[in-house]
Amino acid sequence: MKTASDTREVLVLYYSHHGSVRELARHIAHGIEQTPGVVARLRTVPRVSAVCEATDAAIPETGAPYVEAIDLEECIGLAMGSPTRFGNMAAPLKYFLDSTSGLWLKGALAGKPAAVFTSTASMHGGQESTLLTMMLPLLHHGMVVVGIPYTEPALSATREGGTPYGASHISGSDGNTIVSEHEKQLAVALGRRLAETAKKLAS
Ligand SMILES: Cc1cc2nc3c(=O)[nH]c(=O)nc-3n(C[C@H](O)[C@H](O)[C@H](O)COP(=O)(O)O)c2cc1C
Repeated sequence: MKTASDTREVLVLYYSHHGSVRELARHIAHGIEQTPGVVARLRTVPRVSAVCEATDAAIPETGAPYVEAIDLEECIGLAMGSPTRFGNMAAPLKYFLDSTSGLWLKGALAGKPAAVFTSTASMHGGQESTLLTMMLPLLHHGMVVVGIPYTEPALSATREGGTPYGASHISGSDGNTIVSEHEKQLAVALGRRLAETAKKLAS
């Protein structure tokens, strides 16, 4: 049995409105936990209110707890996921990232590995632009970005989501398309690769 002293945690931080990114987060967490001595810590961010701040409950009624700066400090790596919104990450996640300048000033994330994941409605709806631009704030924080190599057979075989820049899913115009086998394999592979890298860098 794992104890707190012999396990390290990798943060899986995501925003999901309709559940597709949350499902990818679950597969990434599964991949992380295939690495001995590493467990996933799942966290989300609240929606951004268009009217005023702090209208949401401090603790969500269901699902992962809201992220705090301490989660980023304590974890040895980060997987960050967002739905694609007009070819970019969703505002709630960006809003949270914009609050992390204290961590940036301390260099709290410098040298830790990170990976990104997304979901789009359509095949060519901007997965790659979302994944690549999600990396930028992480690079400013000094994080070491981990992708998916073509040694993963599913990366060449997929006819759905899954990219060298990160895990992805195509949810369809109604948002109900389930995560395909290839998308799942690539999400698990990304989680495992991130956890293995984090473990090596932390030792
Ligand atoms: C404001 C808005 C903008 C969106 N922009 C895009 C887009 O640029 N490309 C795309 O394919 N899907 C776009 N979508 C669809 C979502 O990316 C897609 O439904 C995604 O799977 C939702 O993830 P979730 O289920 O985790 O919330 C957009 C949705 C919204 C609400």
